[in-house]
Amino acid sequence: MPWAFPFSLPIFLPKLPMSDAAIADPRPYDLLIRQARLFADPQLAAAPQTETLWDIGMRDGKIAEIEPHLPGPATQEIDAQGNLASPPLVESHIHLDSVLTAGQPRWNQSGTLFEGIEIWGDRKQSLTHEDVKARALQALQLQASQGVLHVRSHVDVSEPKLIALQALLEVRAQVSRWMDLQLVAFPQDGLYGASQNEALLEEALKLGADVVGGIPHYELTREDGVRSVHRLFDLAEQYDRPLDFHCDEIDDPQSRFLEVVAACALRRGMGDRTTASHTTAFGSYDNGYATKLMGLLRRARINFIANPLINITLQGRGDSYPKRRGVTRVKELWQAGLNVSLGHDCIQDPWYSLGSGNPLDVAHMAAHVCQMTGQAELEACYAMVTRNGAKTLGIQDYGIYRGGPANLVLLAAPGPREALCQRAIATTVITRGHCLSQTTLPQQHWSPPVQAF
Ligand code: FE2
Repeated sequence: MPWAFPFSLPIFLPKLPMSDAAIADPRPYDLLIRQARLFADPQLAAAPQTETLWDIGMRDGKIAEIEPHLPGPATQEIDAQGNLASPPLVESHIHLDSVLTAGQPRWNQSGTLFEGIEIWGDRKQSLTHEDVKARALQALQLQASQGVLHVRSHVDVSEPKLIALQALLEVRAQVSRWMDLQLVAFPQDGLYGASQNEALLEEALKLGADVVGGIPHYELTREDGVRSVHRLFDLAEQYDRPLDFHCDEIDDPQSRFLEVVAACALRRGMGDRTTASHTTAFGSYDNGYATKLMGLLRRARINFIANPLINITLQGRGDSYPKRRGVTRVKELWQAGLNVSLGHDCIQDPWYSLGSGNPLDVAHMAAHVCQMTGQAELEACYAMVTRNGAKTLGIQDYGIYRGGPANLVLLAAPGPREALCQRAIATTVITRGHCLSQTTLPQQHWSPPVQAF
């Protein structure tokens, strides 16, 4: 999948007069959403008022019109009942090859990253093509039913037969009618952890992996880690791919590969195309070094992905008390104007035996762990599982706007805060103008006793 940086990310359409083309088009809408709320984006001066409800007419896989009232007719109508019509949720960091393997062949008793890597090393000995495909498709369906239509998945390419990659390339093609899936060639055991790993990663790029991955803090030595970063940038340039590193996912405050990644991105002019995932050690750096580093990050303008669900559980396992939270400096990166998104990372695998696949769970956890509970901060957390993730993934046509792709999710909540608070159900998920998934809200029958017993 070719990558291109989005020059604009319109999410919400300013109120505009009905287009001449729409007036001239007598055909019914394929799908008409009635009475939806579009929350204002503070980055758009002309954003619509949140108190206005909007009709969204879709035709030929595109959003044809957005008006307070559209006359129709339409082949299908859905009443949003004043709830939020959101651009699709974005899962910017997941490992589809390992999803739904928790307890196989054994449980992670220490709860650490490194025991998880050991267990995965054993589990992947029994990987089969069909095994990977079936689990990945199950996870993607789970995600899509909760409003996710854009996914970036890392794929372990340290395994000599590239079984997982081959399977996920097929999955990418299979789901392309309803979901955008990007695959990261991820050397889980280190680019230099075994003699064949570098060649395997390059082979993965030739086979069609979308993104170059890396894991410098897991290489055998610091020197190998630095060398791996430079080599991976070389490959990214050679194959014209963006990069997404597992970077400093460790409690060690001396793990400082983020500065290496940022410096490479700055010097090669690849900040927009570079992502540092996890960066949990950044939460353990002393403030003197962190302040210096933040200056470099402001210049490099790379993207960040935090994975608070899993890192709050994996990190700090060697601490007594006080026990570190093990999450990167999300709030400070956001306040610095850098692009931060949030990922689920794992769904029931050797590293994390929980996981629902719902990005609202991730944003909810981020609000707590990163202490972002103010109104603007909660909206920022929501942006981290929508717009910011889209920017990291380089999605060009993301958002709800006339002429844009008819991709959106109706949530059973009027706004982002309520959506996070309730982990709102995605009642309708629309992809390319097609109603992909509908979920009925649970019904409660409240019957208090009429007399004391
Ligand atoms: Fe990860």
